[in-house]
Amino acid sequence: MEELKRAVAKEALKFIEDDMIVGLGTGSTTAYFIEYLGKLIMEGELEDVYGVPTSYQARLLAIENGVPVVGLDEVDAIDIAVDGADEVDPNLNLIKGRGAALTMEKIIEYRAGTFLVLVDESKLVERLGQRVPVPIEVIPAAWRAIAEEIEVFNATAELRMASKKDGPVVTDNGNFILDAKFHRIEDPLDLEIELNNIPGVVENGIFADIADIVLVGTREGVKRLER
Ligand code: A5P
Repeated sequence: MEELKRAVAKEALKFIEDDMIVGLGTGSTTAYFIEYLGKLIMEGELEDVYGVPTSYQARLLAIENGVPVVGLDEVDAIDIAVDGADEVDPNLNLIKGRGAALTMEKIIEYRAGTFLVLVDESKLVERLGQRVPVPIEVIPAAWRAIAEEIEVFNATAELRMASKKDGPVVTDNGNFILDAKFHRIEDPLDLEIELNNIPGVVENGIFADIADIVLVGTREGVKRLER
């Protein structure tokens, strides 16, 4: 699997040109991309490329690998954002957020000129919610009320725990994550909007209609899916 992740990360480099502002995603696949991007910058193959990190994890990796970082509030526009995903459906709707960075990811990827997604073939599903729950970032004091409210969607929600010792996962924004399992997600865009209407929900991990291109690592090579 690591080989497939490396292969898509390498392919993604072909989308990066001099003078670009690049949204840097979070997770194990994008980690390879950041590493390779840093190498090209350090070797002088790419000039004036800056990264806008979607998390502390991405920021640390960028710094470690020589990718200069800037904040979202320091740039006029983001040319391209590159990130992984936990599920991709046939319409290129996504579930993201295993790394709890979904809010900043969505803020940056929504605004990018191109949103390029990197996955291995195990992430492709017929319908969202088949393999993974939908992560929902919530204001900590509201977690229990929201978990109960989610039941009206024919779903169950669990508070994500780091470990028994460390307690709940706390996001970069100081919030909690609920992982919601839905019986069936009929309309991803509808659900994405409805979840965000619940007071106390900061953002949810359904990314409907945002991805432009998905690179899929398969045993037969990297495949490109486009909307
Ligand atoms: C981070 O919050 C997530 O959205 C990741 O982008 C997603 O979980 C994919 O991660 P991997 O590349 O590690 O599978």
